[in-house]
Amino acid sequence: MADILLGLKEFSITFFFILYYWIQAIILAFIPSSWRAKDVAGETVLVTGAGSGIGRLIALRFARLGCRLVLWDVNDKGNEETAKQIKALGAYVKTYKIDLSNRDDIYSVAAKTKEEAGDIDILVNNAGIVTGKKFLECSDNMIQKTFEVNTLAHFWTCKAFLPGMMERNHGHIVTIASSAGYLGVNGLSDYCASKFAAVGFDESMRFELEMMGKEVKTTVICPFYINTGMFDGAKTRWPFILPILEPEDTVNKIVDAVLCNQHIVMLPKSLYFFMALKGVVPTKVLALICLYFGASNSMDDFKGRQKKIE
Ligand SMILES: NC(=O)c1ccc[n+]([C@@H]2O[C@H](COP(=O)([O-])OP(=O)(O)OC[C@H]3O[C@@H](n4cnc5c(N)ncnc54)[C@H](O)[C@@H]3O)[C@@H](O)[C@H]2O)c1
Repeated sequence: MADILLGLKEFSITFFFILYYWIQAIILAFIPSSWRAKDVAGETVLVTGAGSGIGRLIALRFARLGCRLVLWDVNDKGNEETAKQIKALGAYVKTYKIDLSNRDDIYSVAAKTKEEAGDIDILVNNAGIVTGKKFLECSDNMIQKTFEVNTLAHFWTCKAFLPGMMERNHGHIVTIASSAGYLGVNGLSDYCASKFAAVGFDESMRFELEMMGKEVKTTVICPFYINTGMFDGAKTRWPFILPILEPEDTVNKIVDAVLCNQHIVMLPKSLYFFMALKGVVPTKVLALICLYFGASNSMDDFKGRQKKIE
């Protein structure tokens, strides 16, 4: 009898909180993000892959919010250009050349960063690479490097900076993944797998941190193609449903989500519908939907970045 009562109590509490969080999510959806945003002024933000694309724009947006910036990139020239733009805003900035496919490099640059720039409050794992070829055309080297940069680097940066965040009971880990981290795409096998892993890492870590009662937040970003050059040539069939995203607008949404401690962000919002659909339709229906909406042919004319980034 006591067991039944205990079971009923647990069920009621769980049910209450399910309702509570549903209502909370619905109410929050109607409250402008600017009303819910946390103040990050004075916090130190580390952005990987800050030398171009959305990494640069994320760094600039945090600088405008009064943050101190640490920029990591293998591309020195691009990273220095980002730093120059941040200095022009009057913000603190420090740059480090790093190869994120090398674990030893990550640990040694992380130690140097902590010594020179202090503790990291917000870690943005943004750097990424793409092969953009059919599976059998992907070299072993590129497959390995894709996982090292897009996935494993997240493990090593978190190992380096999470203990400090946990000790201070304050911090935020941001994973720039992709919609390809939820849905496999024809011609992106290594990239998709690396991003699925990054999404899984974020989710698992979020549960782990929540169960420990830690005030370290996580946000995972899953955008469709963004017009940065990385995916040049990739196309969409229904631009009003699945548009190629503009970098500035995408970055504003990314940073707003971080400021509101949002867990998962899909861009554009229509992706939430496709992801929900994936869970309920038969796989052959899913394949048909992917074909109809152009996802299955989106990489057919992929060229990737043609110009060296600066
Ligand atoms: N562009 C898109 O269409 C798109 C879509 C969804 C997700 N994303 C993701 O967003 C992130 C940023 O993409 P982007 O479009 O700004 O690309 P980008 O190519 O403009 O920027 C990537 C940055 O990462 C750096 N980088 C690459 N390998 C590195 C290494 N080994 N060590 C250190 N730095 C390294 C590059 O030098 C570059 O500055 C990536 O993780 C990407 O997978 C991009």
